[in-house]
Amino acid sequence: MRLRLVTSNRHKLEEYRQGLAPLGVAVEHLQADCDEIQADTLEEVVLACMRQLRAGGHRDFMVDDSGLFVPSLNGFPGVYSAYVMHTLGCQGMLRLIDGLDRKARFECCIGVCSDELGEFTVTGASPGRIIHEERGMEGFGYDPIFVPDGQELTFAQMDMGTKNAYSHRGRAMQALVPEMRRRMEGRR
Ligand code: IMP
Repeated sequence: MRLRLVTSNRHKLEEYRQGLAPLGVAVEHLQADCDEIQADTLEEVVLACMRQLRAGGHRDFMVDDSGLFVPSLNGFPGVYSAYVMHTLGCQGMLRLIDGLDRKARFECCIGVCSDELGEFTVTGASPGRIIHEERGMEGFGYDPIFVPDGQELTFAQMDMGTKNAYSHRGRAMQALVPEMRRRMEGRR
């Protein structure tokens, strides 16, 4: 089975390739763009992006929208995670959370648009905490300051396989494959 991922983030592409290969899904890159709308949930962003891509004539693709949700900041940065990373970076995030409860949660929504399988979304989450300083060189975004529950290492200190085992994206991929199989069987 093959899926084409729309992303400008090469780290995400690699995480999908590594995460889905053992599940029998080969991931290719689809060069396409959609404007990220302002919305309250990742799923709304994903559905709007899928609509734009379909309207642009694209078929058979998958999109990913992810974010870091911090309860003590009322869920911020959440759907604004990319903007906050771009403007403040990890150091800015550490300043924002200074003195507050450090519990946080990564979420990922994957949307699939396929002639064969139809259109659907799946989600995955990774609860954890924001630590006090950046640690590690792997990954991207907030990886150096996030430690998932049950671990002592940040995502940026993990190899990709370990990150996928604990991450929001890895968990969304775990939900994606059975949903694809279910839909394929439903067509037989
Ligand atoms: P988007 O899904 O590319 O819009 O990502 C939103 C923001 O969340 C970006 O700034 C990413 O850096 C950050 N982000 C998304 N997924 C991850 C991840 O797996 N690790 C660290 N940061 C992430």
